[in-house]
Amino acid sequence: MTYKRQLVTAALPYANGPVHIGHLAGCYLPADIYVRYLRSKGEDVKFICGSDEHGVPITIKAKKEGVTPQQVVDKYHKIMGDAFNGFGISFDVYSRTSSPTHHATASEFFKTLYDKGVFVEEVTEQYFDEKANQFLADRYIIGTCPKCANENAYGDQCEKCGTSLNPTDLINPKSTLSGEKPVLKKTKNWFLPLDKMQPQIEAFIESHKDWKTNVYGQCKSWLNAGLQPRAMTRDLDWGVKVPVDGADGKVLYVWFDAPIGYISATKDLFALSPEGRAGEGWTKYWRDKETKLVHFIGKDNIVFHCIIFPAMLMAEGSYILPENVPANEFLNLEGDKISTSRNWAVWLHEYLVEFNGKQDVLRYTLCANAPETKDNDFTWKDFQAKNNNELVAILGNFVNRTLVLTHKYYEGKVPEAAEYTKSDVLLLEEISKYPAKIAASIEQYRFREALGELMNLARLGNKYLADNEPWNLYKTEPKRVQTIMNLSLQICANLAVLMEPFLPFTSAKLSGLLNLNKSLRWNDATRTDLLLTGHQINAAALLFDKIEDEAIDAQIQKLADSKKMNETENSKAAIQNSKEEITFDDFSKMDIRVGTILEAEKVPKADKLLKLKIDTGIDQRTVVSGIAEHYKPEDIVGQQVSILINLAPRKIKGIESQGMILMAENEKGELSFVAPTKPNMNNGGAIK
Ligand code: MF3
Ligand code: ZN
Repeated sequence: MTYKRQLVTAALPYANGPVHIGHLAGCYLPADIYVRYLRSKGEDVKFICGSDEHGVPITIKAKKEGVTPQQVVDKYHKIMGDAFNGFGISFDVYSRTSSPTHHATASEFFKTLYDKGVFVEEVTEQYFDEKANQFLADRYIIGTCPKCANENAYGDQCEKCGTSLNPTDLINPKSTLSGEKPVLKKTKNWFLPLDKMQPQIEAFIESHKDWKTNVYGQCKSWLNAGLQPRAMTRDLDWGVKVPVDGADGKVLYVWFDAPIGYISATKDLFALSPEGRAGEGWTKYWRDKETKLVHFIGKDNIVFHCIIFPAMLMAEGSYILPENVPANEFLNLEGDKISTSRNWAVWLHEYLVEFNGKQDVLRYTLCANAPETKDNDFTWKDFQAKNNNELVAILGNFVNRTLVLTHKYYEGKVPEAAEYTKSDVLLLEEISKYPAKIAASIEQYRFREALGELMNLARLGNKYLADNEPWNLYKTEPKRVQTIMNLSLQICANLAVLMEPFLPFTSAKLSGLLNLNKSLRWNDATRTDLLLTGHQINAAALLFDKIEDEAIDAQIQKLADSKKMNETENSKAAIQNSKEEITFDDFSKMDIRVGTILEAEKVPKADKLLKLKIDTGIDQRTVVSGIAEHYKPEDIVGQQVSILINLAPRKIKGIESQGMILMAENEKGELSFVAPTKPNMNNGGAIK
């Protein structure tokens, strides 16, 4: 199937916090590379995005900060839009779901399904906070996790053990609004009957076996589990009002309204353009079968874009369905999951200040390390290495040597190529293959591979200079040197065109240095005569600067500070969560003695356990202790310990443990023995 045009969307980010490198690597950068490439090919493409401004996390944030949800989204809509802009993410429109266009579009979409009788109305029991007089979204309820006993599990998920939950699974549920125990109350909602739609959805997914394996695989496992009806309305007051009678106090489910945001953003785009005035310019992007719709997303969005939104579109009937949904896995940071709440992130708005002018270095690193097929890790050391060893040493070096020599030998005028040698002819042939090679990778959403090919072209140039050593031939073979320099300059021009999707800022800079014709496009890069003989280039300047250790160390330190801050927060929380008070009598029941470890060995098949033989001064006994991850057996023989000797004996892994040694924990969770500071020569005697 060939298409006349493409509509490319990038997931609408939630407007409840700034964007970080995980967002960029996950969908905005690959989408931008894809779109820039299509534009360079001269294709008709529109790139759509905007802020996702509904949803419970936004109302929670507003409550916490004592402002309105609208104030929260206004603030982050601007921060996010500026950050994307700063990194050259070239949306044709960056809209928002609190806009009137969006409310009207989402509302109309719902009404269409409602009028067609698509929804199933159902009355269910939901938690209600009588004090706050409102129904509680899953995130507004906390309680004890039935799986791991974490007391702060949310109504939809326990963040400690990762189990996904229903609010009614929680033991001791509490409303986070009032702290009260919520009551179950009946409420009516409208469900999309995904169960009944399963055959159609299955046929749709099966017609896209070409999707990335992670995407196709996730769809299959949802389908295999059997789709369930899903509520498309919620009892909340922040969102798009449900446009039917008897739905007061209800809004559209955020995952119903947000993807419709792609449609409303497209409308906004055309309202701004002359085409908009002429009529319904946006409709050809959404209703014409010759439009290819591509959604770029992160992996946590797969089910919504591959199953739920297509089901909505099918039910509505007048729209096209996505042709592809390239989803990336997650990016980690220095070996740890990126987390907004723990401030474990590289924030784009901060990077733009701290590494002013180096947007392409981050674009390069994130693309070279893109989590395309598995989760991947960003480290500052790797960022530095990619800049210094690849961008500076390969790409920058090649271009700089070429420009400097052109000025030195020819006053900045492109010399005429004399006769090509055999190897020159081979090189020319090789160069002309790159546009197709890189294009093939991009069209298959393999951006790392594509970038690798771009760098291979720069390597080719570098090697050509190194092999031919024009600086050694300048005096003796001036004609030969002209050819070498002409060819090197042509490679620079091809690089300027081909790097544009990946490194748009550098491409603009290099085009400026070469004084390149601005109308050059992707397919021109198959030619090897982009710079005509006698063409004047501008003064040389470096494309990339080395990044020194100090800048990297400062970033690593910044992360270490976040970590420290969190640990302090955690230990404060640990104090708050410490165990209940006991009486003096409880305490004095314990018979604690000083003992010495005589023997220690690992308990087989138990990573954490050591079997200890302890001399208590009155007897010798066996104690099984959970300290194997902190101490090696051979290091603790002879160690003095405090031991509780009147604890009821207990069998652990088949060994009877006759007491417990006392350990103390510091704020970092490190253990130490509770033992006399002075060497105690005569073991024994109770601590009182
Ligand atoms: N806001 C969602 C997220 O950040 C993505 C919404 S994508 C859309 O995970 F399709 F709903 F817009
Ligand atoms: Zn749990």
